Amino acid sequence: MSIQQLEQTYELAVYPRRDIVLVRGRGARLFDENGREYIDCAANVGVSNIGHGNQTVARAVHDQYLTLGNCYSMFYSPVRAHLAQKLASLAPGNLNRVFFCNSGAEANEAAIKFARSSTGRQEIIAAMRGFHGKTMGALAATWGPEYQKPFAPMLPGLKHVPYNNLAKLEAALGDNTAAVLLEVVQGEGGVRIGDKGYFQKVREVCDAQGVLLIIDEVQTGFGRTGTLFACEQFVEPDMLCLAKSLAGGIPMGAVLCNDRINVPVKSHTSTFGGNPTACAAALASMEVIEKEGLVEKSRARGKYFLQELGRIESNKIREIRGLGLMLGIELKEKAGPYVQQLMEKGIIVLLAGATVIRLLPPLVITREEIDRVVAALKDTLGD
Ligand SMILES: Cc1ncc(COP(=O)(O)O)c(C=O)c1O
Repeated sequence: MSIQQLEQTYELAVYPRRDIVLVRGRGARLFDENGREYIDCAANVGVSNIGHGNQTVARAVHDQYLTLGNCYSMFYSPVRAHLAQKLASLAPGNLNRVFFCNSGAEANEAAIKFARSSTGRQEIIAAMRGFHGKTMGALAATWGPEYQKPFAPMLPGLKHVPYNNLAKLEAALGDNTAAVLLEVVQGEGGVRIGDKGYFQKVREVCDAQGVLLIIDEVQTGFGRTGTLFACEQFVEPDMLCLAKSLAGGIPMGAVLCNDRINVPVKSHTSTFGGNPTACAAALASMEVIEKEGLVEKSRARGKYFLQELGRIESNKIREIRGLGLMLGIELKEKAGPYVQQLMEKGIIVLLAGATVIRLLPPLVITREEIDRVVAALKDTLGD
């Protein structure tokens, strides 16, 4: 059987598949089983910010696994301690304590629980078109009947309001609201960038009513938008949810919390959360981000990318949006067929909703690679 047939036979068919078998990656390039090269503008949906095949992370994982690969958080661990300290030093404001887990959904699950236990209230307000993961708690916060309906009933107490609309949010807040949960740039929802003014007001309204503000940076974290954390450009949250690129491609999630967050001992735990192998990978990944100036690169290359995309003359394009190296091309028609055509031209991109082509390249992408991507997009979408 071919690789495709094996996966189709032995795995649940929950992922829409693209018909290539990827076997190797280096920097912003991917290679399939036939040796064909692709420029990666997906980065595993924002996981591979530091690029594929990074030696520093590979060595850190290798060395830590052989030293002590796992250490349940009931015991202390030097590498976990140093990572917690590092994250607290990098995080904006007073986000000085962390809970470690393994994925984005898990980070949001934890944040929802922490919000309820810290406030004694039950309701969480999230946004339409928001995406927070697909486990039962996170799914209740994720927008979209197509995701929720097969798994009803949802966790009670979750409400959705239109994104970037203060009046609707204020109207939804009540005495039982524990937290507001938002992305500062909606990723899956179509690369929609929030207004700074909106987020500042959300902060004020939350403070006035004793409501916590949770920002989900699972996709926007670690340089993606041109600052280490995207919220630095918008607002200071009470909890910051992280995952994807946190550990340079090794599974890890985290919730950074300020002093308003209180959780009883044993009320939330995770066997793998904060395991030394992932912690070593995260520390190494942050070293790479700093040494290679990837946050600055994201800002500069993102600006260049956006400018070059703006030069494409196309009747098919409705709008181009971007912050750092998180870019969206909204079309006037369905984007799926163009995603396929781009892959055939050696460019891997993502969809975000039905009509948006989303570009999330590794932050190590070069100007020459960006030029090749823009040329392929011009060829595919141009008039
Ligand atoms: C903003 C955001 N939150 C949460 C998630 C869920 O993360 P995971 O797939 O690791 O559970 C994602 C995944 O795309 C995301 O983009």
